[in-house]
Amino acid sequence: MLILGIESSCDETGVALISDKEGLLADALHTQIDMHRAYGGVVPELASRDHIRRAVALADEVLAKAGKRREDLDGIAVTEGPGLAGALLVGASVAHAIAWALEIPVIGIHHLEGHLLAARLADPKPEFPFLALLVSGGHTQIMRVESFGRYEMLGQTLDDAAGEAFDKTAQLLGLPYPGGPAVSALADKGRSGAIELARPMIHSPNLDMSFSGLKTSVLTAVRNAPNPEDEVFRADLARGFVDAVTDVLAAKLIRAMKQTKLKRVVVAGGVSANRQLRERLISEVKKRRGEIFFPPMRLCTDNGAMIAAAGLARFERMTPEALESLRGKGAFGVKPRWQLTDTERL
Ligand code: KG4
Ligand code: ZN
Repeated sequence: MLILGIESSCDETGVALISDKEGLLADALHTQIDMHRAYGGVVPELASRDHIRRAVALADEVLAKAGKRREDLDGIAVTEGPGLAGALLVGASVAHAIAWALEIPVIGIHHLEGHLLAARLADPKPEFPFLALLVSGGHTQIMRVESFGRYEMLGQTLDDAAGEAFDKTAQLLGLPYPGGPAVSALADKGRSGAIELARPMIHSPNLDMSFSGLKTSVLTAVRNAPNPEDEVFRADLARGFVDAVTDVLAAKLIRAMKQTKLKRVVVAGGVSANRQLRERLISEVKKRRGEIFFPPMRLCTDNGAMIAAAGLARFERMTPEALESLRGKGAFGVKPRWQLTDTERL
C-alpha cells in the first residue's frame, strides 16, 4: 500500500510517501518561516497562499524521488485539523482533487496523531501502550495511548502551550520567530538559578499545566531589568525560562508515570526537538527505569511523513467497505478545532 501524506495546518507544507512494505520512501518540506519572520508570527492568509504555491510541486517531488507515479498511489492522508482554517483547506483541496482524479480513498488525519506516530518512525520504535507528552506550538497535553486511535487525555495546559511560551519569550528577548531554537541556544550561555521564574501549577495534584504565568514572569523580569539589552541578563533569563519549562514538564510527566504505572514514554511535537528538555526527560525517565522515545529530530516539527504514517496506520485497519466510503467524492471539510480524543477510535 502506497500512501501520500500532506500537512498544511500552519506554516510548513510537508509532503511524504510511505509504503506498508518499504516504510518512508521520500519526504519534502517547505517552511514559510522566512516569510512570516518579518511579522513576528504566522500570518494566516499568507500561509494559505504559500501552501497553494507549494503543495502540488512537493507532491510531484516526493513521487519523483521515490521513482513512483501518481497512478501508483493507493490512498492519500491529509491533515484535517486542528490548525488554520485556510491553510488546512489548501491541503485538503489538493488531497481530494488528486484522490478524485485517481479514484483512490482519502483520509483526514488529526495533526497531533501525526506528531505522536512520528515517534514510531524512529528506530527503535515504542510499542503500545505508552504515555505521551505532546508539546507543540498550539498544544501541551499528556495522554495515555492504548494503541493506534485509542487516546485518553490525562492532563493539558489550561492556557498557553509550551511552544507558544517559547515563542513569546523569544519575542520579549528580541529573538527571531519561531522562538524555540533561538531561546534554547541563548539559554546554553546563561547560568541556572541566576534568574528564578514562576513554575505555575507544578505542585498541583493533577496533570494540568499553565504557561501564561511563566510568560508574565518573563515580561516582569524584562521590565524590571536595569538594562534588558545586557547579554548576560538575556542569557540568564533564557536559561531561567528553559529551566522553568523543563521543570514543569518533567514534574508532570513523572506524576503521570506514577499515576498510570506506565514506564514507556513518548515525547513528540515541535518542542520535543529541544535539547535541554530531551536531556532532562531522558535522565528522569531512566532514573525510574522507564523507556523514553522521541521522533527522529527532523520529524519533531511539522512534516508530511507523520501524516503519511498516521494515514497508513488508519488505512491498514479499515474494512474494505470503510475504505470504499473514503474513495474521492469531491466533497470535503476541515476541522480547525478538533480534540485528539474525538477522532474515530480504532
Ligand atoms: O509541532 P510544531 O512544529 O507546530 C505545531 O503543531 O504547533 O511546533 C512548533 C513549536 C514552536 O512553538 C517552536 O518554537 C517550537 O515548536 N520549537 C522548539 C524547538 N524547535 C521548535 N521549542 C524549543 N526548542 C526547540 N529546539
Ligand atoms: Zn505540529
